[in-house]
Amino acid sequence: MKHRKSVKDYIRTIVDFPHEGIMFRDVTTLFADPRGFRMCIDELLHPYAGEEIDKVVGLEARGFIIGGAIAHQLSVGFTPIRKKGKLPGATLSQAYALEYGEAVMEVHDDAIQPGEKVLVVDDLLATGGTAAAGIQLIEKLGGEIIGCAFIIDLPDLGGRAKLEEMGMDVHILCE
Ligand code: PRP
Ligand code: HPA
Repeated sequence: MKHRKSVKDYIRTIVDFPHEGIMFRDVTTLFADPRGFRMCIDELLHPYAGEEIDKVVGLEARGFIIGGAIAHQLSVGFTPIRKKGKLPGATLSQAYALEYGEAVMEVHDDAIQPGEKVLVVDDLLATGGTAAAGIQLIEKLGGEIIGCAFIIDLPDLGGRAKLEEMGMDVHILCE
C-alpha cells in the first residue's frame, strides 16, 4: 500500500543549527508544500471542531504563519505575541527564563478583550518558556485560553508538563 505522508514527514532536521550539537527541526519544508501545509493547519484545528474560538494568538515567529492561516480558516482575528521592542503600540510585557539569562515577550494591551476565547499556536514546544509567557500575557488581559496547539513537541524538555500544570489543554501533532 502507498504510504501517505504525515505532517512529520515534511519536517526537515538541520544538524548543528544554531549551535553545534543542536538538531534543528525546520518547518519551512512543511510550510512550502501545499499538501503538507494544509494537512498541518487541518490537524492543528481538528480537536477544536465545534468549539467557540474568538481569536487566534501566534507566538513569534513561526506561530504567525500557522496562526494567520488558522484565523483565516475560522474567520476570526489574529493577535501576535512578539519579542520585546517589536510592537508599536502600548504593550504588556512578560519575562521568562532562557538557558542563559532571560527574554521578554509582549502583547498590545488592547489586543484581547476580557472573556474572549483564545487559541494559542506555535510551531514547536521545547521548555515551554515562550508559550508560558504568552499564556500569562493573554490571562492578564482577561482572555480565556481554550487550547494551545503546536506542530512539534520536544518531550525531553518538559514543555507539555509545564503548560498542563498551568491548566492548559495542549494539542501537539508530533514529537
Ligand atoms: C522557538 C520556537 C518556539 C520556542 C520554543 O522560537 O519557535 O517559539 O523557540 O522554545 P521554548 O518552549 O523553550 O520556549 P525561537 O526562540 O527560535 O524564535 P523565532 O521563532 O523568533 O526564531
Ligand atoms: N526548531 C525550532 N525551534 C526550536 C528548536 C528547533 O529544533 N529547538 C528549540 N527551538
